[in-house]
Amino acid sequence: MYSRAVTLSQFLQQEERLHPEATGEFTSVLMDIALASKMINREVVRAGLVDVLGFTGTENVHGEKVQKLDVFAHQTITRVLGSTGQLAVLASEEDEDVIPVPEGQPVGKYVVNFDPLDGSSNINANVNIGTIFSVLPRVTRRGGGTLKDCLQPGVRQLCAGYVMYGSSTMLVYTTGHGVHGFTFEPSIGEYLLSHPNIHTPQRGRTYSVNEGNYSQWTEGVKRYVDYLKVDDDATGRPYSSRYVGSLVADFHRNLLYGGIFLYPGDRKNRRGKLRVLYEAAPLALIAEEAGGAATDGERRILEISPASLHERTPLFLGSPDDVRECETFVQGRNPAITVERRTH
Ligand code: AHG
Ligand code: MN
Ligand code: MN
Repeated sequence: MYSRAVTLSQFLQQEERLHPEATGEFTSVLMDIALASKMINREVVRAGLVDVLGFTGTENVHGEKVQKLDVFAHQTITRVLGSTGQLAVLASEEDEDVIPVPEGQPVGKYVVNFDPLDGSSNINANVNIGTIFSVLPRVTRRGGGTLKDCLQPGVRQLCAGYVMYGSSTMLVYTTGHGVHGFTFEPSIGEYLLSHPNIHTPQRGRTYSVNEGNYSQWTEGVKRYVDYLKVDDDATGRPYSSRYVGSLVADFHRNLLYGGIFLYPGDRKNRRGKLRVLYEAAPLALIAEEAGGAATDGERRILEISPASLHERTPLFLGSPDDVRECETFVQGRNPAITVERRTH
């Protein structure tokens, strides 16, 4: 039944053999992330049954209501990763400050920034949600890791990945040697290689954006989205609109099928909604590794050096031709293209 199945652990060991200098420590960080995701998956799939739904009544650092599954996911990842001796420090969307390694635990050489549960507003509707993670080398020399270890540009990432909890649960990651997808097989509790070497199409036919924010967008973003809606067979338009509201789900579909995800800044939030360290940067590394592109409209996401843990950025992410075309509108570089504004 599993004659050709390759587990995540076997795949990582194969990858490790390609790097003689590898010590296996990095592999164990990824295996620990996979372990934590299996524990989260178990709660996600029965969220509707064991009163994990609903709000804790508390709010997170962003003033957003924190749902119990968010807290559970945050605590699980912190607990599993904090006690492995591989990490110097962690940072989570659900914690205002960095998370030190617990007293008495050995301090390691890696840093993990993570979004424990992405798309949490969708939990109660049983819509796909996810976990996003980013692994960096520590930069401080001794003692426990600090904020400085977490605040690094995305180009410094050793690994980036996400888990998507849905009709099937998938783990997708890159270490800079291709993007690889694994599907969870609950009956044996293993992630099995299902999508080796994912490459994203050069151009897609789909765009993902919350059109409810249209009136707040800059003129360039408005013109771009209007442009995608114009009927023009020669350029494959109009594009289809697909928006789940869970970044991991929207990103994963566009990664496989092609297309562009946009969360632009607007009049209310110039820097948009999504965070650099544990949303934009890890997905940007995956996108670029898969042949795609990721920018804030002006520069590569991976070159942003965040000044604070929860710094936000506008995000344009996906097929390279779509992202480049979007940038020409955002930067006002194609006034010649006329786009009739839809009034209805
Ligand atoms: P999180 O649940 O981690 O806060 O992330 C939610 C994000 C992201 O998943 C999604 O793309 C975006 O919020 C949707 O925002 P809108 O509801 O404003 O469109
Ligand atoms: Mn998120
Ligand atoms: Mn989240």
